[in-house]
Amino acid sequence: MQVLNDRTALVTGASAGIGRAIAQDLAAHGARVVVSARRLDRLNDLVAEIEKAGGSALAVPADAGDARQIDALLEKTLAWDHRLAIVVVNAGRGLAGGLLSSDRSQWEAMYQVNVMGAAHLMRQAGAIFVRRGHGDIVVLGSVAGHHISPFSGFYGSSKWALAAAAEAMRREVCDKGVRVTTIKPGIVASEFQAVAGYNTENFTKWVKKFGPMLEPADVARAVSFIVAQPARVHISELVIRPTGQDYP
Ligand SMILES: NC(=O)c1ccc[n+]([C@@H]2O[C@H](COP(=O)([O-])OP(=O)(O)OC[C@H]3O[C@@H](n4cnc5c(N)ncnc54)[C@H](OP(=O)(O)O)[C@@H]3O)[C@@H](O)[C@H]2O)c1
Repeated sequence: MQVLNDRTALVTGASAGIGRAIAQDLAAHGARVVVSARRLDRLNDLVAEIEKAGGSALAVPADAGDARQIDALLEKTLAWDHRLAIVVVNAGRGLAGGLLSSDRSQWEAMYQVNVMGAAHLMRQAGAIFVRRGHGDIVVLGSVAGHHISPFSGFYGSSKWALAAAAEAMRREVCDKGVRVTTIKPGIVASEFQAVAGYNTENFTKWVKKFGPMLEPADVARAVSFIVAQPARVHISELVIRPTGQDYP
């Protein structure tokens, strides 16, 4: 199923969870993949795994909240393969609690990666794709930024802002042949919950209420499906939840 064998992709946040699964799935569909995150050892393991399966990948460590590191990441990606055609803006983090109850000391760091870094990568990749007249930018939003709820409320606000920026950019570039897609997952079992500071008691409660969580591979299949559409077709937004998750 090598439908993406003429495409090169960059995936941020590829050392774990959803990003790792997206990189694996794109590679399984024939794409050459640049994988980025801060933990280089994890990226090297992923590259070895993809190469063992017959694919081609490159690890480039970078902080996705730092504009200069994002620029260097794009430079290295283009030097490896100038045909870059897919950028998955996935690196991000959660934060337990609402406006009153979340850890105030984490607010800037969360917005820096979820909004500022993500928007910078969208802008830089968008400029390249507009010049070429084609390209896919896939952005990981969240159902917490689709329906505003007190559950992880300030994190939700960062994903609301990101989805707004992505839709604004879609309207800016769609007539140049560039597709900007927002994927909004419900709860996915990954390292996300520990990083966000959800406690076991809380999370177990949601697992009981919603039934089995999504797996990272469930989201990854959606990404490969979307970018494999013919150039005239754009699935610009996708909400994907565990079947039993009613809200958000
Ligand atoms: N899990 C969910 O329930 C869920 C639901 C909806 C949306 N999402 C979104 O999906 C995306 C992926 O989440 P996930 O569930 O896969 O979480 P995860 O398992 O914690 O993975 C997060 C990834 O982002 C990277 N990352 C975090 N901060 C970074 C930074 N400053 N610079 C570079 N890389 C950074 C991490 O790599 P390093 O630590 O190695 O840098 C890791 O590879 C996030 O944007 C998240 O908000 C998740």
